[in-house]
Amino acid sequence: MNALRNVELKARDPEPARTLQAALAAGAQDQGALHQRDTYFAAREGRLKLREERPEGDGAPSRAQLIAYARADEAAARTSAYHLVDVPDPPGLTAALDAALGISVVVEKTRRLLLAGTVRIHLDHVEGLGDWVELEAVAPPDSDLSAEHAQVAALRAALGMTDDRVVATGYAALLLEQGAATQRLVDLARRAMDRAYAPYSHFNVGVGLRDEAGALHSGANVENSSYPQGQCAETSAIGALISSGATAIREVAVMADTELIVPCGGCRQRLAEFAEPTTPVHLCGPEGVRRTVALAELLPLAFDLAEAQA
Ligand code: THU
Repeated sequence: MNALRNVELKARDPEPARTLQAALAAGAQDQGALHQRDTYFAAREGRLKLREERPEGDGAPSRAQLIAYARADEAAARTSAYHLVDVPDPPGLTAALDAALGISVVVEKTRRLLLAGTVRIHLDHVEGLGDWVELEAVAPPDSDLSAEHAQVAALRAALGMTDDRVVATGYAALLLEQGAATQRLVDLARRAMDRAYAPYSHFNVGVGLRDEAGALHSGANVENSSYPQGQCAETSAIGALISSGATAIREVAVMADTELIVPCGGCRQRLAEFAEPTTPVHLCGPEGVRRTVALAELLPLAFDLAEAQA
């Protein structure tokens, strides 16, 4: 099957009632409201989500689709290619994919749909994120997308979607930035810690990392009878993240059964290679997070080759 393409744009909406009036004034047809739950799985490539939806109010049957897509994050109208598969047993599929891949985040929202010609207007109220407006122009297979970009640009102006309100990321990424996956990350670090190979120090360490696509990775320390050949849990987890195809670290959980585990000096530099100074690092005991610090707090004045050569 060929992937479908669309052009889309998403913006914060401080005045949803006014946006609805502007959309109706621009000739859009109100199609009513839906409740949608998107469960994001930690896919190796691109993004994978199960969408369950039911019309707001009446007793009409709900439906579910598995959606696989790849999308570049840019604060501009984006194109995305996706695949849709009808799902007859959503709880069964959720359990199977959770076991195989893990869930990274769940997004619940009420979506009011309007149609302006072929452009879909979504007025969304998202749990934990507030109100948003989204434009989506679905492209015919032979389109060069210029018509879709023009339609989106015209509606964007009519609805007052100014640059300062437009966001590059999706709802899942925004929720993840607010800590929606922290508990899962801590659980992964605990599992890795329990599996560590540390027969010489008897000091087990587990690490969980979240990457730029919302996927979670983990690692444990692996020691060796030739002591210097051992590696830290951070190093193992970074290897898992990079070999999955990810390129950035967005959140870190480090766990050990001690008062306050902190990454060693070498691992602070290793984390800095793929993270930002502001990236949160959760320092955890077996029961959970004990303290959260920014990476820059652990590694001030970090070495950066590009800066050193500038
Ligand atoms: N260790 C880690 O895995 N990560 C840290 O942040 C600190 C230390 C490991 C290395 C070694 O296997 C054991 O803990 C004792 O030093």
